[in-house]
Amino acid sequence: MKGGRVRLDYTGCLDESVGAAGLTRDEIAAACRRADDGRRRLREAVDSGRIGFDAVLDDADAIEACRREGRRLARLADTLVVDGIGGSALGALALETAFRPRRRLAVLDNVDPEGVAAKLAGLDPERTAVDVITKSGSTAETMANLLVVLGWMERRLGPGHVRRWSATTDPKRGDLRTLAERLGIPILAVPENVGGRFSVLTPVGLVPAAFLGIDVEALMQGARDMRTHCWSQPAETNTGVLGAALLHALATTRGRSIQVLMPYADALVHLADWYRQLWAESLGKRLDRAGRVVETGQTPVVSVGATDQHSQVQLYMEGPHDKVVSFLEVESFRREVKIPKRHGDLASLGYLGGRTLGELIAAERRGTEIALTAAGRPNFTWRLPQISPHVMGQLIYLFEFQTALSGELYGIDAFDQPGVEAGKVATYALMGRPGHEAEAKRLRRELKRPRAVV
Ligand code: PA5
Repeated sequence: MKGGRVRLDYTGCLDESVGAAGLTRDEIAAACRRADDGRRRLREAVDSGRIGFDAVLDDADAIEACRREGRRLARLADTLVVDGIGGSALGALALETAFRPRRRLAVLDNVDPEGVAAKLAGLDPERTAVDVITKSGSTAETMANLLVVLGWMERRLGPGHVRRWSATTDPKRGDLRTLAERLGIPILAVPENVGGRFSVLTPVGLVPAAFLGIDVEALMQGARDMRTHCWSQPAETNTGVLGAALLHALATTRGRSIQVLMPYADALVHLADWYRQLWAESLGKRLDRAGRVVETGQTPVVSVGATDQHSQVQLYMEGPHDKVVSFLEVESFRREVKIPKRHGDLASLGYLGGRTLGELIAAERRGTEIALTAAGRPNFTWRLPQISPHVMGQLIYLFEFQTALSGELYGIDAFDQPGVEAGKVATYALMGRPGHEAEAKRLRRELKRPRAVV
């Protein structure tokens, strides 16, 4: 694969490395057989069109439309407000952070009044464009921020500001679609069979990526290359299938209910946040496909190496045996910083002078891996040759595939989110949205109950 493939080093999951907390070769072979069955079921779902995150990689017209729209917005602005939340924001943020481009995003993914006011105060409306992203076209946070930004732009630029807007939503329905049509704002569609957290390689992530000047074709090619790997390689040598098999086996047979994702690169911090949502919202389910109560899921936690070695690693090393640590390692950084040779007579400086920060962070990760392994704590490493659009595309597809396959292993629907929807409905009811009167009545009764406050 051009530019190198993302690899999985799972030495730290083996019983021969971490003792009884690790898996035997026989257990891994059995886990791979289960995962292979899951892959066949997933294939059927993809082929039937029920699940769409795979097919979006081949929709050349849609990809080109994203590029055009991103470039159009880039001609008007150097900052793009991304108004969206959850799966409608995290992918774009991950891409921006990975590439630190000259243009930037201002992501409105919360309704904290101080946060929104501060973000807008830092923007020049004449150098700003807006991308409103909501698949449902109705999420309260996104729609509220839409009205706030609409008013803010209109007051400063007059009615002509709408040419600075773009909308991404459901292909047929929803209030964002209606409003965008009313105002003459261009609309890009998220395919019906692609849910929020699986949508970064649709207009949801690609319009911001194109705005930022990221090489969209290389990103998509990386995803396509990883797709080929995930569907064609035998389970035992397959990064995606083996990743899902190991995580499921460690969770269900070794009590590893927490997965710590630990990128050793600042550029990957928001990718880790994106993964955290993908993993949590897809696998945290009360019911299995047969309607039985299963309450599955593995809690994802993000820790940043080397920073959090001085914050959480103590817990991972010596606390409860409930975690598997997954490292993200960058083999070659895009920039290197040499540590000057000065004051070499001082023991804490002498050994560092003349080395590089890249060497130091690599040693920090390796050292943590060795120490965790010695302490009997399962861990594995995703090795990235470098951070490039092609590698980011690979990682995005790899994690989507692994999550979807994990849904098969747990026997749950990885593509719905009833818990999130319940929260949305409660917000609509409490804020007085028409059609939610009965729920509002029930919640008002709830609000009247005495509180335990000291
Ligand atoms: O993954 C999901 O489905 C969610 O996280 C959604 O992306 C999030 O709730 C926002 O939904 P919408 O895009 O409909 O505004």
